[in-house]
Amino acid sequence: MSGDDPALDIASVGEDVPLLEGIRTTRAIRRLRPDPVPAELVRKVVEAGTFAPSGGNRQPWIFVAVSEPERRAFIAKRYLKAFRTYVAPALEAARDPDFPDARRRNVHAALHLAEHLHEAPVHLFVAGWTRRGVQQTEGLFPAIQNVLLACRAVGLGASLTTVHRAFSEEIDAFLGLSPRTPSCALLPIGWPAGRYGRPPRRPVDECLFWERYEGDESRR
Ligand SMILES: Cc1cc2nc3c(=O)[nH]c(=O)nc-3n(C[C@H](O)[C@H](O)[C@H](O)COP(=O)(O)O)c2cc1C
Repeated sequence: MSGDDPALDIASVGEDVPLLEGIRTTRAIRRLRPDPVPAELVRKVVEAGTFAPSGGNRQPWIFVAVSEPERRAFIAKRYLKAFRTYVAPALEAARDPDFPDARRRNVHAALHLAEHLHEAPVHLFVAGWTRRGVQQTEGLFPAIQNVLLACRAVGLGASLTTVHRAFSEEIDAFLGLSPRTPSCALLPIGWPAGRYGRPPRRPVDECLFWERYEGDESRR
């Protein structure tokens, strides 16, 4: 399947992925091909976002999909600048030979995304209405996760990023968003260069307790 495939059947694509298998194999896909993604497919994954729960069913979300190359370049330039500033300590730490391999791969993939963000065919921003002046992020993350899962189902690669918020005033104005509707996350979306797979996670039996938490408080 590719972005310019005229035979892509938007209505049926992704409808056959078992829900739990999709959940277990959704991970940050940060290496993307530059091929275009049909607007109808973006609409389909965003529609999945709109089925998320929200407090009082207020549905505070606003989605802004940016696809024009010059506009993506504007965003990518600021993202990279923010990434270099805020993630520099992690990049430095990853040089240590004792740095865990899985985390090093993660940092390098995040750097790759930052350096190639302008090539990601869709920059999907998730913004939302503030309530009494406060951003309702808890109302947006369920929608964000639904979009990520829908991308997995239809074969698109995506990841959740927030680094752009270092420049949120400038980027939000660029997107037509106001302080009443600030952006919360940027999901770079495209056809994956690699494959989906099971992400590294702590085993459920380390995380699940019955009746009372009996774990080690000093762990984190
Ligand atoms: C609130 C939040 C903010 C994140 N911000 C960024 C970001 O700015 N850039 C980035 O590359 N990844 C970002 N991530 C993605 C995480 O790094 C990723 O979910 C984590 O490494 C697990 O990846 P995996 O699912 O591939 O194992 C963010 C994730 C969350 C939940």
